[in-house]
Amino acid sequence: MIRFDRAFLHGRVVAVAVEELADAALDELHPDERARALVLAPMRGREWVAGRRALRRALASVATDPALSAPALLADDRGAPVVPRGAVGSVSHKRALAVALAALDAGWTIGVDLEVLGPRRIDVSRRVLTAAELAALADVSGPGRDRAVILAFALKEAIYKAVDPHLKRYVGFQEVAVWPAADGSAGVTPVEPWGLDVEAAWAEIDGYVVCTARARPTDR
Ligand SMILES: CC(C)(COP(=O)(O)OP(=O)(O)OC[C@H]1O[C@@H](n2cnc3c(N)ncnc32)[C@H](O)[C@@H]1OP(=O)(O)O)[C@@H](O)C(=O)NCCC(=O)NCCS
Repeated sequence: MIRFDRAFLHGRVVAVAVEELADAALDELHPDERARALVLAPMRGREWVAGRRALRRALASVATDPALSAPALLADDRGAPVVPRGAVGSVSHKRALAVALAALDAGWTIGVDLEVLGPRRIDVSRRVLTAAELAALADVSGPGRDRAVILAFALKEAIYKAVDPHLKRYVGFQEVAVWPAADGSAGVTPVEPWGLDVEAAWAEIDGYVVCTARARPTDR
């Protein structure tokens, strides 16, 4: 079931419910995707299928050429979804929802991340935030702090997916600071230069935060 399909700053985002694998959902897949889904563990298969359905729909939303949404959307050797030449795409899933971000290829790689908002039992701020980000939150506690940490986490995961095609290595959470603003924009400051232009944005939808990012070489 499609939960939403909307334009974001960095492309089209489509959200699909993660459901039991039924024939109707499997029938939407390319045969190679169906084969992939059926060898995954059940929960992983459900989220993978929901992500592929979301990605195919997002690609169809940004391009009238069916060649951009018809081929098998498998994964590259780093785990990122492979989309047809001419487009870029990214996938995230959390609990009952999967989202995909797609855009026409304009020289940017893109990333999306989805997280559930709400109180957290464990404070992961020291793992997720840089010293500067921690200092900015020094006077914030309770739900406001949980929310800020979740938002920073999601922005950084979206950024990771956007920068990984360029950097092709693990990027730690301490390697970049993010500065979300109330209007849905977010500043991005890598601690050491990446040689990339990086943008990020966020939106709260139905108790989730959806973050998007894009990246391209600075000297292009
Ligand atoms: C890869 C990673 C971002 C996935 O995040 P997650 O919260 O575990 O899971 P999500 O549901 O949000 O995303 C999973 C999707 O990410 C995508 N993905 C996996 N590896 C990827 C990569 N190297 N590049 C881009 N996308 C990738 C896949 O589409 C995957 O879903 P699928 O296998 O069903 O297609 C995370 O596991 C990771 O390794 N992060 C690295 C550290 C980091 O985020 N640093 C932040 C500082 S920049």
